[in-house]
Amino acid sequence: MSTILKDVMQTNSGHPASTPGAMQAYRASVLHFTNDPAFHNDAHAWFEDGLLLICDGKVLQVGDYVALKSTLPDDVTIADYRGKLIIPGFIDTHVHYPQTDMIASPAPGLLPWLETYTFPTERQFSDLNHSSQVAHFFIDELLRCGTTTAMVYCTVHPQSVDAFFTESSERNLRMVAGKVLMDRNCPEFLRDTAESGVRESEALINKWHKKGRQLYAITPRFAPTSSEAQLQLAGELARAYPDTYLQTHVAENTDEVAWVKSLFPKARSYMDVYDHYGMLRPRSMYAHCIWLDDADRARMAATQSAVAVCPTSNLFLGSGLFDFPRADSEQMLLSLATDVGGGTSFSMLQTMNETYKVARMGGSYMPALRMFYLATLGGARSMQLEGVIGNFAIGTEADFIILDPQATPLLARRTANTNTLEELLFALALLGDDRTVLATYAAGRQVHQR
Ligand code: GUN
Ligand code: ZN
Repeated sequence: MSTILKDVMQTNSGHPASTPGAMQAYRASVLHFTNDPAFHNDAHAWFEDGLLLICDGKVLQVGDYVALKSTLPDDVTIADYRGKLIIPGFIDTHVHYPQTDMIASPAPGLLPWLETYTFPTERQFSDLNHSSQVAHFFIDELLRCGTTTAMVYCTVHPQSVDAFFTESSERNLRMVAGKVLMDRNCPEFLRDTAESGVRESEALINKWHKKGRQLYAITPRFAPTSSEAQLQLAGELARAYPDTYLQTHVAENTDEVAWVKSLFPKARSYMDVYDHYGMLRPRSMYAHCIWLDDADRARMAATQSAVAVCPTSNLFLGSGLFDFPRADSEQMLLSLATDVGGGTSFSMLQTMNETYKVARMGGSYMPALRMFYLATLGGARSMQLEGVIGNFAIGTEADFIILDPQATPLLARRTANTNTLEELLFALALLGDDRTVLATYAAGRQVHQR
């Protein structure tokens, strides 16, 4: 065995994998990213006949099968997935687990959709049993779609957060979630107060943040449903706990933007409201970002605040088209997200499908290679988790999926005559969905198999 393999095996004990200290080996085509292909030439590694080695829930080595095979101890069994593709697990940077049961509910735009469907649905999460049942189904659905990490909104009820993290930690998943803060412009039954919201959030931080693989996100729903006092306290909480996450919505819909202008007449822009309260910082995730101006984009880039681009939701609710060229000219941190239940699919492959079309409608072209980057390492970078998840760098947590290019008759027929990696990935992104995900692994343990 090579000395590198021995070293990593010795330092990786203590992480729950199938058998502590046992090496797992997977043979397949392997793809992962080390950089953003939009800005770098050597941004990905592709091993057509590749091998991924895992030990104690972490990546031990990745490379060509032929080169690595001779370094393996004799007793290692190799799982043979030739003809399939191994990539890092998908990262969905914006999704609402309580909205699972109201996915595909029609409404003429964001604000009526919130009033008619979202608020009554979220009311049910005052009940811990209901929360646990939905969290269980939601996590099953993520794993079926190959999503191993998500940034998740719970509801205003602290018990909805307990239910989610309990389900996630039982499966040893790397998840980020938080209690929604909202103290105005919403039904009485979903309202906290500036003080109770921050007190309950702090208690949840102490209970869940960095417990195993769980991470906490301070979650003001969006500027219209928080008073100035609540935004002030949320910003203070973010400063008091700088390694927690912060997530909210911004500039999704023109009616929403006009509403924010009337509620915060002194702010330069919608994003400026959040900036005023100190909410632009690394580990803050802003969903949508459609109706920003260049000053907003520059502020987000300068503060390492990230964007969760949500194309299926934006098309479904008629919110608008994300502007990729403008975002890239500011080198903003970009990631892809489903935004279920505004989004219409849990699948990050289907999210790529719509990403491609949104980019085309904006006059630009999004290669499949970049979409796979955005759904893996791009998400990890947006969450400041590079080196932890998002690619197969040695020592990263072994969250990975196996994609089947023959998953459906049409995919099989199309991928039988793709000539390049780009063509293969493009077919998977445009034609793939949950059926394409043969198996999902979290920290080296299988958590889904078709
Ligand atoms: N803005 C405020 N709340 C929400 C929500 O639940 N979904 C979406 N898409 N936008 C929002
Ligand atoms: Zn959302």
